[in-house]
Amino acid sequence: MSNKTNQQWGGRFSEPTDEFVARFTASVEFDQRMYRQDIQGSVAHAKMLTEAGVLTEQERDAIIQGLSEIEQEIEAGQFEWSVALEDVHMNIEAALTQKIGITGKKLHTGRSRNDQVATDIRLYVRDEIDFILGELSRLQTGLLDLAEQEADTIMPGFTHLQTAQPVTFGHHLLAWFEMLNRDYERFVDTRKRVNIMPLGAAALAGTTYPIQRQLTCELLGFDAPAENSLDAVSDRDFAIEFCSAASLLLMHMTRMSEELVLWTSAQFNFINLPDRFCTGSSIMPQKKNPDVPELVRGKSGRVYGHLMSLLTLMKSQPLAYNKDNQEDKEPLFDAIDTVKGCLRAFADMVPALESRKAEMREAALRGFSTATDLADYLVRKGMPFRDAHEVVGKSVAYGIETSKDLGEMTLAELQQFSDTIAEDVFDVLTLEGSVAARDHIGGTAPAQVRAAVQRGRGRLAERS
Ligand code: ARG
Repeated sequence: MSNKTNQQWGGRFSEPTDEFVARFTASVEFDQRMYRQDIQGSVAHAKMLTEAGVLTEQERDAIIQGLSEIEQEIEAGQFEWSVALEDVHMNIEAALTQKIGITGKKLHTGRSRNDQVATDIRLYVRDEIDFILGELSRLQTGLLDLAEQEADTIMPGFTHLQTAQPVTFGHHLLAWFEMLNRDYERFVDTRKRVNIMPLGAAALAGTTYPIQRQLTCELLGFDAPAENSLDAVSDRDFAIEFCSAASLLLMHMTRMSEELVLWTSAQFNFINLPDRFCTGSSIMPQKKNPDVPELVRGKSGRVYGHLMSLLTLMKSQPLAYNKDNQEDKEPLFDAIDTVKGCLRAFADMVPALESRKAEMREAALRGFSTATDLADYLVRKGMPFRDAHEVVGKSVAYGIETSKDLGEMTLAELQQFSDTIAEDVFDVLTLEGSVAARDHIGGTAPAQVRAAVQRGRGRLAERS
């Protein structure tokens, strides 16, 4: 390379790039992770150029051979990345030319880095979405198995974080399953708009070569070529959509994390997280901290931040490609890494959590969690609901005064508030009676939890 100009675009330049500017404008430090997709795109492009009569078969084969060697060198850690060559695209192209000579310089015919980079990112995000979908399924499978195991486990259900009504732990876990199911659907939906091919848009206006976009599209597994070249090189909606789906997923994971943190505390003591998912304190020997859920809760912040970064990055950008777009990668890649890390941690950890059934049951016994059941009982005996509400309210006040839960009172004590109450009231005042009575689709009854687990397994099996 001449030290006067850049070898890829230096033709019209009369002095070399300022050394700081070269580093400032380079992206190779962070876009080199797309090397596999860059090579994949180049191989498809070379094959297409041959079909179009632009490259000979020998030239195509030399290019493919050279690129495959470069890929192996990168994988073996033997490739030397150069900041002077700016980005992953020019690093690989320069290495190819060095390897196979003048033919390497023909690869970029009918293409620009603008459609090249947009193609690479889409291929990259598509691969990562597929991996993320697999991890989501793994976590959801773990939740179904655990929910089945915990179908009969009774815990307090909360509203306002105050004891509300008894629920089964399995039912609670299935609520998490539903949140993740929506996340799964959102990533599947995002993937549809990721999987559109910019290649062929060239710099912005298309190209004068007789390119066959349908062919590259098929070779790269895209659903369709992008309809408009200006939009193709400038669109980053898919990256924003990815971060949006990721933000919702992380928000759900913070909710799960928060509950795990609460439940592991001495005050709740509902679950035990195996030691391998926790860490200790350097000063307080008794401590076992739920670091994994805490960290997942904290990591949501960076993903939300990346969503805002990308929205702001794209705001007001005129068509078509602008250098601003190079700033899409770090937020997007960090969002991907964060989602993958959090999912892996949860998919490993959640199936291993152990419920403390006696403690959960004890907590459900406190806090008058069967008060609604008593009201429903009175209504079944003919009392209007508002009157029943009043009777139960008085019973609860008496319970607070005497430190007795409803199920611990004698029949005579209960009858102080209504003579409608009879011996059979104790069937509904038990925790088991309370949960079993909520026996409909979406209800907390153990039988419903088991049925929901079966349906959940069916839903997972329908995923291809
Ligand atoms: N490194 C650039 C990016 O990440 C590649 C495209 C550069 N195109 C250009 N005309 N300078 O966006």
